[in-house]
Amino acid sequence: MDAPLPLRHDLDGRTILVTGANAGIGYWCAERLAARGARVLLGCRSPERAQTAVAAITARVSDAQLRIVSVDLGSLDSIRSAAADVDERLDAVICNAGVKTARTDARTHDGFDLMIGTNFLGHFALLAQLAPFFADDARVVAVGSIAHRFARLEPGRLSDPWRGSSLRQYGRSKAALMAFAFELDRRWSDTGRSALCAHPGYAVDPLTAPRPGLVEVPVVVRALATLSRPFVQGKDDGAAPLIHAATASEAESGDYWGPGGALEFRGAPTRVRASDEVRSPATGAALWDAAEQLTGVRFPT
Ligand SMILES: NC(=O)c1ccc[n+]([C@@H]2O[C@H](COP(=O)([O-])OP(=O)(O)OC[C@H]3O[C@@H](n4cnc5c(N)ncnc54)[C@H](OP(=O)(O)O)[C@@H]3O)[C@@H](O)[C@H]2O)c1
Repeated sequence: MDAPLPLRHDLDGRTILVTGANAGIGYWCAERLAARGARVLLGCRSPERAQTAVAAITARVSDAQLRIVSVDLGSLDSIRSAAADVDERLDAVICNAGVKTARTDARTHDGFDLMIGTNFLGHFALLAQLAPFFADDARVVAVGSIAHRFARLEPGRLSDPWRGSSLRQYGRSKAALMAFAFELDRRWSDTGRSALCAHPGYAVDPLTAPRPGLVEVPVVVRALATLSRPFVQGKDDGAAPLIHAATASEAESGDYWGPGGALEFRGAPTRVRASDEVRSPATGAALWDAAEQLTGVRFPT
């Protein structure tokens, strides 16, 4: 077991929603934010897995302020209920939950492609309905990926069936979420609110500190994985750029943060470059319109 977390209180009084907080990088965002005094809302689809994460965090941070918000980002009904369950001021939302691989015919409850529907449309609909609760200086962090660079965005064809590799479609879903965040940054330009992107690099479970009830990695796999440590990192370290984007005073609206090491796979948070396509105002505006039309949810700005 790694050493206990040094407790800080620099986020006392802040409330931060993390989607997909029961596992992987989202769990580490929740644990580390709670250890800094933030009140953390864990947006999770499984009450059992969410409760396991709460137990793991409170075992490390005894005075952690946590609340589970039940949300399945693949269901517009669930998203509506989740938004109705939030009535506190939100200082930040980390849009972390994500599906990383899927079959071409996998769909959300509403019939959208599983990765586009969950990773992008689900977060769009959730944020749109949470907007009345955003603090005047609230931050939204869209969790992107290096894979966004291999994707082409066609806003008018978001709901079309796709062909090609799962990785390419994943990249498209992440690029869509990022392009939306950069569009939000433009639409919020005369407000005190911020929209940023961040990515965790290449972050894997076998290099991640163990937590009870979370993913179990066999000892031999952990031992072998240490050979990859010069190139990739654990999900605990992968959470750092997301947390930085959500909390650091130097992070600004429109930024994109990721690991500073080779290929952006590992390392301390630094500003990284997003593709021209996800920064395109024309693409961002078209995606916004498409998302409103597909979800039937208007995003108030
Ligand atoms: N790991 C990497 O190297 C890497 C690289 C680039 C970007 N990212 C991004 O970082 C984020 C976290 O990745 P990870 O590696 O930590 O993934 P992970 O370990 O697979 O965790 C994914 C989280 O998303 C949740 N989730 C999936 N579908 C959901 C839905 N419909 N509703 C609510 N929650 C849902 C999962 O909940 P369940 O437990 O219920 O499934 C889980 O909590 C993702 O957005 C991913 O695209 C990761």
